[in-house]
Amino acid sequence: MMDPAELMASLEHELKPYRGQPDVPAYARLPADGLDRAEVENQITSLAGTEESRWREGYASGAVYHGDPEHIAFLNRVYAVQSQSNPLHPDLWPSATKYEAEVVSMTARMLGSEHASADLPIVGTVNSGGTESIMLAMRTYRDYARERRGIAAPEIVAPVTAHAAFDKASRYFDMPLVRVEVGADFTADVAAMAAAITDRTAVVVGSAPDFPHGMIDPIPQIAALAAERGIGCHVDACLGGFILPWAERLGYQIPAFDFRLAAVTSMSADTHKYGYAAKGSSVVLYRGSELRQFQFYKTTDWPGGLYLSPTFAGSRPGALSATAWAAMVSIGESGYTDAASRILRTGAEIKAGVAAIAGLAVLGDPLWVIAFAADPADPDVDIYQVMENMSKRGWSLNGLQRPAAVHLAVTLRHTQPGVADRFLADLRSSVDEVRANPETRTGLAPVYGMAGALPAEVVSDLLGVYLDIMFEV
Ligand SMILES: Cc1ncc(COP(=O)(O)O)c(C=O)c1O
Repeated sequence: MMDPAELMASLEHELKPYRGQPDVPAYARLPADGLDRAEVENQITSLAGTEESRWREGYASGAVYHGDPEHIAFLNRVYAVQSQSNPLHPDLWPSATKYEAEVVSMTARMLGSEHASADLPIVGTVNSGGTESIMLAMRTYRDYARERRGIAAPEIVAPVTAHAAFDKASRYFDMPLVRVEVGADFTADVAAMAAAITDRTAVVVGSAPDFPHGMIDPIPQIAALAAERGIGCHVDACLGGFILPWAERLGYQIPAFDFRLAAVTSMSADTHKYGYAAKGSSVVLYRGSELRQFQFYKTTDWPGGLYLSPTFAGSRPGALSATAWAAMVSIGESGYTDAASRILRTGAEIKAGVAAIAGLAVLGDPLWVIAFAADPADPDVDIYQVMENMSKRGWSLNGLQRPAAVHLAVTLRHTQPGVADRFLADLRSSVDEVRANPETRTGLAPVYGMAGALPAEVVSDLLGVYLDIMFEV
């Protein structure tokens, strides 16, 4: 095994590729006099140009979900006219409030709000991303459970596959997270979740689908558990919120996962993923205004005045809400359905193609986030080295663990002609290369290999070092 410190040093170059390049000046302090704007723009455009082709040509898992030049230019124009907008000042920018209210309403409607009763309408807020949506919801449940249910130390029950944001919420808000194993099909084990619920449980969680394996948890059964126990049920549809409603319309058999289920009390859905907005927005939804009130922050005695804010931030980028609104109204139901159709067809093609590669096995039976591992019958294939060989071929895939696996989240970028074929051809040759060099471990492969073998605290310290490096000039 490689020395961990040595390994981090080798990763430093990957993280800071521009360091020391004479044509890429670095600024550890303010320039004495401001640079010419044209020069600044040049520097930024030049680095963006270096980085663009990978995501543009579909080498990334997730990351850029739409990416058509015309769509991006449209969002950029919207951003440009709204760049000063801040919903903290609704008197100055009532337009921001209009866009946000409509983004919430359109998202809610897409996720079954018309089935809600009049006294518990589906309401929500716009915020900065999936993580914030989840953290807001968890903190809301904590405070609701304390105040309305008398639970002193409220807990979250979630499958191990639920996003890391639930763990982050757990740590930030001092709210124990009870993680429950998933079944052999990589979806939540409902019996195990039922067993994990106690008098302290504030909320149970299901994903539609989950980040690691793209599998949709049995939401109707999870919601039924919540109804039985009188607790909250959060459906994380950050990934699927803007795909699954249209998949159903296209004839895919998908059990109800949204507010059509009376026991689903909140959802997260990301406008900045398959909603095709600019990066930095998401929607969190609640059943009933009373629950949402627990998310809001209000202070009445501050010398700075009466202060109120719906989410974690104070000032917020109204321009990003405007791009979410612009994406949604310009794409419309037919546009989202068409996009979902292309993504789901490409997902099916990639799933079948991966399954046909000797030495690899697809995990579960996903629709468009396709996770694969080494075939247990084929011990020569180290899946992390396969991922590394894919990186050498330009691909940016997601490494998974427990079990060791890799995934590709299919986006519109992969629906471009030839991209799925290129992915599968590169994957085949990456596996062949691993077989031909069974001892070779390069790049991130040993990091992942090591993460599985080292104590958790050591791995956590290494991740801390990695974050330190990120903020070094
Ligand atoms: C299912 C799921 N939930 C939550 C998130 C977190 O979203 P974000 O990265 O926007 O904070 C992701 C991100 O990929 C996700 O896939």
